[in-house]
Amino acid sequence: MKLPVAELHIHLEGTLEPEAILRLAGQNNVELPWPSIQELRAQYDFSNLQSFLDLFYANMAVLRTAADFHQITTAYLTRAQASGVRHVELFFDPQAHLERGLTLAEVISGIRAGLDEGLARWGITHRLIACFWRHAPAESAMEILRTLVQEKHAVDGIGLDSSELGYPPVLFREVFAYARENGLHVVAHAGEEGPAEYIVQALDLLKVERIDHGIRCLEDPALVERLVKEQVPLTVCPLSNVRLRTVDTMAEHPLRRMLEAGLKVSIHSDDPAYFGGYLDANFAAVIGQFDLSREEQAVLARNSIEASFLDAPAKDLLL
Ligand code: HPA
Ligand code: ZN
Repeated sequence: MKLPVAELHIHLEGTLEPEAILRLAGQNNVELPWPSIQELRAQYDFSNLQSFLDLFYANMAVLRTAADFHQITTAYLTRAQASGVRHVELFFDPQAHLERGLTLAEVISGIRAGLDEGLARWGITHRLIACFWRHAPAESAMEILRTLVQEKHAVDGIGLDSSELGYPPVLFREVFAYARENGLHVVAHAGEEGPAEYIVQALDLLKVERIDHGIRCLEDPALVERLVKEQVPLTVCPLSNVRLRTVDTMAEHPLRRMLEAGLKVSIHSDDPAYFGGYLDANFAAVIGQFDLSREEQAVLARNSIEASFLDAPAKDLLL
């Protein structure tokens, strides 16, 4: 991508390439059920979101130290700058790492060291977003969020991820209210596998500033009208949607319909090490599939900058 672009939907743990997983497993003495690269790679054929999440959570068990987080953040940013990314809003799953005995300080200081290095080396600006698991009780999210706030950890916002069906946003109403009261940005995955109703809940009950994925909004014309009117950003991840079979093929991906409806969509990579490519590959896939014009590509890139949590002067520099 020659156009300046912001990566707004990227899970740090989803940038762990198979080679890095095996290297870290060896380094940290973590035993994985798939000890060779061939056996590990054979696990990457997903039937739905849950089948991916099972592998994703198992693999991230190799992350054991602040230095690991620093190293994988730097590795990601090295790759991101090669695909033209100028600003990153990085997700991480605190619950996964606390479960293994790491502290919030270790995880966040490691990631921050990588982000600061990316800023110094390539001028890539950043925000950091802690995503809570919707399959875990809201009390767990609340406890971690209170610690993040009280101990003044360097996070800029919260999100909501993991298994979607059966875990409606309403469960996290108090968590998001507390985050907003404390000046944090708020986003949520909604309408990936879950129904359009979850997008409505995320907007009305969680008062999110962006919807991650959101592709199922098209099933509710009144919701589409609202999203267009309010210009709510939707962070769409095309390769993820195909690999997790939320859509059958790229040809059936709703991106063009979303653009034509006037929705504020931008393109992102979700878990690039799992879904077949980084931001450049996601752009290439939709440009090729939908024969997107230069103007349409520019709209997608511009939407990513406008939907970011950069302040207005920093956005202007990229627009
Ligand atoms: N959906 C929900 N949770 C996730 C995803 C996703 O696409 N990627 C990583 N955690
Ligand atoms: Zn995601």
